[in-house]
Order: sequence, then C-alpha cells, then structure tokens
Amino acid sequence: MSDRQIIDSSASRKGIRHPVVSTADSHSHLIQAADVGKTFPGGHSVLAGLSLSIREGEFVSLVGPSGCGKSTLLKLLAGFDDATSGTLTIAEQPPDIARKTSHRVGFVFQDANLLPWRTVRGNLQLPMELQQVSSENRPAHIDEMLELIGLTAADANKYPRMLSGGMRMRVSLGRALMTQPQILLLDEPFGALDDILRQQLNEELSRIWQEQNWTGLFVTHNVSEAVFLSQRILVMSTAPGKIVAEIPVPFPFPRTPELRADSDFARLTGEVTTRLRGRL
Ligand SMILES: Nc1ncnc2c1ncn2[C@@H]1O[C@H](COP(=O)(O)OP(=O)(O)O)[C@@H](O)[C@H]1O
Ligand SMILES: [Mg+2]
Repeated sequence: MSDRQIIDSSASRKGIRHPVVSTADSHSHLIQAADVGKTFPGGHSVLAGLSLSIREGEFVSLVGPSGCGKSTLLKLLAGFDDATSGTLTIAEQPPDIARKTSHRVGFVFQDANLLPWRTVRGNLQLPMELQQVSSENRPAHIDEMLELIGLTAADANKYPRMLSGGMRMRVSLGRALMTQPQILLLDEPFGALDDILRQQLNEELSRIWQEQNWTGLFVTHNVSEAVFLSQRILVMSTAPGKIVAEIPVPFPFPRTPELRADSDFARLTGEVTTRLRGRL
C-alpha cells in the first residue's frame, strides 16, 4: 500500500479532531527502545544502552544535559537515521518502515522553519499539498487548525516575518498537526521563548494533546515545563546517553496555570532538578 492510499484510507477527513488509528494492541508499547546505541563515524558514541517504552497516547518528556543525545534519539525515532546497536521500534516495526506505512510521525523543532515566501495559510497548507488532499477540503482544515492553535483569520494572511516568535511557533505546531500525526516528537520547541509565552504555549499544547490524544515525546531543558506537560519524565545521563531515571507525574488533567503554584508541583520540580543535577 502506498503512503497516499494509507493517508486517504486512514484519515477521516471530517475534522482535525481525529481518533488515533491504532495498529498496536492497546496493552503494548507504541515506542520501544532496547539497548540502543548510536556511534557516529569517527567513533563518537552519543547513545549507549538506552532503553525506554512509551504507550500509545502517552505524553512523556525527556530531559538531560546538553549534548547527551536527545536530538539524536528523536531523529532515530523519526527514521531520519539508524541506530548502530540495539532495537528501536514503533508499533513493532523499524521507525522508517512504521513512518512510511502505518504511523505518521510529526516533528516540531525549536526553529519554526516556516517558508518565508508563504503566508501562514500557505505554510499550514504545505503538508496537505504533499499528501495531495483535494483542494476543496483544504480551507476547512486550515480554519479548524487556526482555531486550534489560537490564530485569527487575519493572522492567516500574514507572512512569517510579520509574526512574533510565539506565533511562529504556533504555526510550526499547526503545520505538524496538519498531518494528523499519531506520534509527535517535539525538540525543545519553546526554548527560544520567554517564560510567560512558554507557559501559555505549554497550556495550549496540553489542551491540544488532550483533545487529539496523539503520543507525545517532548525534549526540554526546562524542568517546570516537563512537569507541567507530562505524565512521565525520563532523565538521561551525560553522553553516551541512556535513561537513568523515570519520574511519574501524578497531577490530573486538564492542567491549569494554578498547578504551577501548587506545593506538590514545586516539590516534584525540585526532585526532577536534583536528578538532573546528579547527571551534569
Ligand atoms: N551527524 C553527526 N555526526 C557526528 N556527531 C554528531 C552528529 N549529530 C550529533 N552529533 C554529536 O552528538 C552529540 C549529541 O548531540 P545531540 O543529540 O544534538 O544532543 P542534545 O540534543 O542532547 O543536546 C553532540 O556531541 C553532537 O556533536
Ligand atoms: Mg538537541
């Protein structure tokens, strides 16, 4: 089956709020890494003995010191590169196969990477053009996405240079969500934003995840955002990186701004920071 057929047959094009299509049995882990290693040519070992499991629909954050291999791990999961040892699977398939067949994987980077010659609408439209969604279906999707990411119809006609950093990141997130991903990999997406904006976008990302229930893996240096967003936090060691601690985050959803003032939130943030410090 081609990518095109899969996209046409699996996506109910009635709206953005789609049920996640599951091919894995509900008790199995959607993402699994067992003893994964990555050594670059020249012998630089970046990951070694890394194991993790993520269930379908979970939101997990990955924190670790700079250079410990977080981005490398996300690239392996996206199927952009191969591990040099161990096994890495998405729904029990190698990531590059899973991505091309059953599981759509979206990627959001710190740099919004928007096309400067396209408007917001044009940037959001790009994934649909690549997936060859018929043109009469496009405006509805884009309008729903604009609403989801908190932009107005007037914003849709602006070019990236006319947008603030926070708005550019909203568009970048929207563009990734246009593909209706089952897995969303986020690599320090809010790292360049000020604290208040980061908090707002954390609240919106959490709401969107709850509405859509894709599986999220979120890389960040910011412990407070990891606690706010996640059901579980994985702490990595220095390079060669592996998972050295797993911390459940018990707070119920929806998570609201008041959570940040809660003493249990402060306690957990402190605990994660201590674990992370131990690794620096
Ligand atoms: N393609 C590559 N070739 C060689 N070394 C690389 C390559 N990509 C990343 N690295 C090295 O791997 C290490 C980990 O990088 P990265 O995964 O970006 O870390 P993190 O995201 O945790 O900061 C860094 O030392 C980086 O220089
Ligand atoms: Mg990185």
